[in-house]
Amino acid sequence: MPFVTELKTFAALGTGVIGAGWIARALAHGLDVLAWDPAPGAEAALRARIANAWPALQQQGLAPGAAQERLRFVASLEDCVREADFIQESAPERLELKCELHAKISAAARPNVLIGSSTSGLLPSEFYEGAVQPERCLVGHPFNPVYLLPLVEVVGGAQTAPAAVQAAMTVYESLGMRPLHVRKEVPGFIADRLLEALWREALHLVNDGVASTGEIDDAIRFGAGLRWSFMGSFLTYTLAGGDAGMRHFMAQFGPALQLPWTYLQAPELTEALIDQVVEGTAEQQGERSIAELERYRDDCLLAVLGAIRETKRKHGFAFAE
Ligand SMILES: NC(=O)c1ccc[n+]([C@@H]2O[C@H](COP(=O)([O-])OP(=O)(O)OC[C@H]3O[C@@H](n4cnc5c(N)ncnc54)[C@H](O)[C@@H]3O)[C@@H](O)[C@H]2O)c1
Repeated sequence: MPFVTELKTFAALGTGVIGAGWIARALAHGLDVLAWDPAPGAEAALRARIANAWPALQQQGLAPGAAQERLRFVASLEDCVREADFIQESAPERLELKCELHAKISAAARPNVLIGSSTSGLLPSEFYEGAVQPERCLVGHPFNPVYLLPLVEVVGGAQTAPAAVQAAMTVYESLGMRPLHVRKEVPGFIADRLLEALWREALHLVNDGVASTGEIDDAIRFGAGLRWSFMGSFLTYTLAGGDAGMRHFMAQFGPALQLPWTYLQAPELTEALIDQVVEGTAEQQGERSIAELERYRDDCLLAVLGAIRETKRKHGFAFAE
């Protein structure tokens, strides 16, 4: 029996930052959404998050019939998944919780329905161990805000069927995403491993008094961050090698890898370091609320995505290239 790839109803378990992002994306694509979260007040918090995201989604373009009213918050895990055409779990990042949750989700779901987890780095072979029909279980790791950023890393576990990975890629594409199949099941997958390496160094720079949190953010957003959004690291460095390209770049900067410039090990998270990071970012945040900053971020992202889409078209690239 083929996996379901044409969706009418999307189920979301866990409606925090990431779950709400999935729900906003699914609603904007004209789907019915069933949501469940055990926390008191979760429905009101979710609806507020969706409302905050909606102007950006309207600006990006809603599918016919898309409406916030098509979200139904239900009282149990089983009610959430029983009728769903696709299931996405975004519960807290704890292995034993995910194991228990996926045993229940997979027992209640229809057999040919795919089950994705938003986990940032837990291994699917581990948390799908007790799942019913684990061949349809996989990771679909998104990025915040899920309703605007296209990337989703798709990772299968030891028991996941290759056809399920393909089917999930099709589903995520139908939601306007750019799926990336992570071919080996490694902790942190691809993107978070890269981001965490940068994060470790950023914490060292604060800890050593080299720079404030704001200065470190400036170092990214006025330089490398601009390049990353359309070229990534490898292609950027190819250009850094001049006409001789990557081979010259490797020869020129290879020796620096032996120095080395970076620590690799994370610094100890002392109270003093945590305070410095929290105080630094509070200063950067200023008087603006998180919701205001989210709307600012969304507008910037829409502008960047629009500019990249337009420029790629001009140079003969497809958006997903
Ligand atoms: N925050 C990020 O940037 C980010 C990015 C990508 C992936 N993720 C992953 O997404 C998942 C959710 O992270 P988040 O940032 O949304 O966390 P969050 O704390 O904002 O939300 C988690 C939600 O899960 C709910 N919850 C608690 N127990 C539950 C249960 N048994 N079943 C279902 N829901 C339950 C909580 O009430 C809460 O609303 C994690 O696996 C995380 O690693 C996070």
